[in-house]
Order: sequence, then C-alpha cells, then structure tokens
Amino acid sequence: MLRRLPPVDDPRLIAHLGDDAAVLRLSPELAVVQTVDCITPIVNDPYLFGQIVAANALSDIYAMGGRPVMALNIVGYPIRSLPAGHLEEMLRGGADKAREAGVAVAGGHTLEDPAPKYGMAVTGIANPAHLVTKRGARPGDALFLTKPIGTGVLATALEQKLAGAAVESVISPVMTALNRGAAEAMLAVGVHACTDVTGFGLLGHLHDLARASGLSARVYAQNVPVLPGARALASRAVSRGTLNNLRHAGEWVAWESDPDHDEQVLLCDAQTSGGLLIAVSVDRKDALIRALEGGGCLACSEVGRLEDGPPGRVLVSGKLAR
Ligand code: CO
Ligand code: CO
Ligand code: CO
Repeated sequence: MLRRLPPVDDPRLIAHLGDDAAVLRLSPELAVVQTVDCITPIVNDPYLFGQIVAANALSDIYAMGGRPVMALNIVGYPIRSLPAGHLEEMLRGGADKAREAGVAVAGGHTLEDPAPKYGMAVTGIANPAHLVTKRGARPGDALFLTKPIGTGVLATALEQKLAGAAVESVISPVMTALNRGAAEAMLAVGVHACTDVTGFGLLGHLHDLARASGLSARVYAQNVPVLPGARALASRAVSRGTLNNLRHAGEWVAWESDPDHDEQVLLCDAQTSGGLLIAVSVDRKDALIRALEGGGCLACSEVGRLEDGPPGRVLVSGKLAR
C-alpha cells in the first residue's frame, strides 16, 4: 500500500520507511529522530498501561541510537463509559515513565473513541555519524537480545482470563523497562546494527534486520530468554498478531530440528515494548556484555549470529530451554 503513496525523497532524510524511526539531518552533527506508536490496553492497571505506552514508544528512538527529548500524547478514550480517573492514571503513568527517560510530555491530542487507545509521538536527537540502523550488520556478527520474550503469550492469557493477576506482575516490569541502558551500552561499545523486538516477534524482527543487511541469520534457541510461565501457556494464548507472524515466518525460517508448536509460538510471539536486538562484531562482544550488564538490562543473551546466505533467511538451531 505504501508503494502507491508519493515517494519520500527529501535528501535530508537519512532513515525513514522500514527503519525503526525517521531521521532527518539538521546539520553535520545533529539529526532529529521521530517515531509514533499507539496501542490498546494490555494490562488492567491504567497507570501501568501508561508506563508501558511510554516505554514502548521511546523504544524506537533507542533502537536507532537516538536520545529522546520530547513527546506528545495521542489518546482515544470513551469518556462517557469509562471513569475519567482511569484516563488520568493512564496519562500519569505515561508522564512518569517519560520523566524517568528525561523526556518532557509537552502536550498532545485526545479524541472520543469507543475503545481506549494511548500512544506517543516521540522526538529524539542523534549525531548522524552514530546512528544505528538495521542495515549495518556483517557476516559473523553476534546477536544480543536485552529482554526476555513471552509478553505476548502472557498478556493474551491475562486478557482471555487463562491466567490471573500474578501474570501482570511478571510482564509489567518487562514492558515498563526502558531500553535506555541497552541503547547507551551499544553506543558506548560501537555496534553494527540494531532494532527493537515488538509486534513481529523475535524471528520477524531478526528476519527484517538480516534482510536489511543482506545476510542470513542463525538463532540459538537454547540461549533465548523466555519469561516464566510463558511456555506453559503458549499452546492456548496465541494472539492474532502472533498467528500472522507464524504464517509469515513459514516463508523464510528453517528449523534445524523439528520444533514443537510452543517453541514456534514463543519465537514468533508478538511483543509489546520488547528488548533491543543488537548485532555486534565478535571482538566487541565481551565489551557489549559488560556494558549491557552495567546498564541494568533485563537480559544480555547471545541469541544467534549473522552469516552469508539468502537475505532474510533465519535458521533456528537447538531447542528452547525448558
Ligand atoms: Co521498532
Ligand atoms: Co514505531
Ligand atoms: Co518478509
């Protein structure tokens, strides 16, 4: 569909469609980085949801190596049928999380909507020379993931009442965690490529990064961190997004050993506010591990590598740890 729209050909744009965020060069040392994201409630607590919205929206700036500075709210809310207090809590969660990131929420726009939605348009800055995209990975690079996966399965289980409030306390710290520490770590160390793991799942975003870099990828399934409880619910709590991901993955994923269905679901599980997926040269990988640990990341797992081969192909070897 986007192909039928007028081409984006402003020479100042150094990243746009297909990148995590749009980047426009203002001067040789300064670029503006912008992204917008909007989601429907995935946890019951409106304050927590607001925090998740902010962490999720900021993530695309971090994935490009940018520093977020300002955000605007975009809100749809059924003000006649839901309590105004929930709206206030939601916005307070967003503002608090943004403040933690050093970001000012400077305004926004609200419209009446039968189903609540909350998102943010975020503006960041970056040095164009230090920008990180999906396109720079090289053969042999190691791949690191900075948060465990499984939030999609667990949030779906919560929504479908297959799991109780305990699940909310497992997924909330993951989805509200900023990717700031991971972004600072990758900038300090120097890496080749990065993206964040969100709606297309770990395999989908890896496919995207590998294809953009003209490479194939290999995943070490046994090294992929999975949230507690996700495995047990993976056969029953599959979101529509994850089903789409599974179908799409059939075109470019190969399994070295026969995967069970739950493993496929988890590796394709649509994430909200997932971690960064970082490609780094092998000789910088120990420095990256130290920096990620120092940055307080929830995981710093070496989940695979990039190799020469058909662009975007992903080979999964090993089995997820039980
Ligand atoms: Co992204
Ligand atoms: Co986005
Ligand atoms: Co594709």
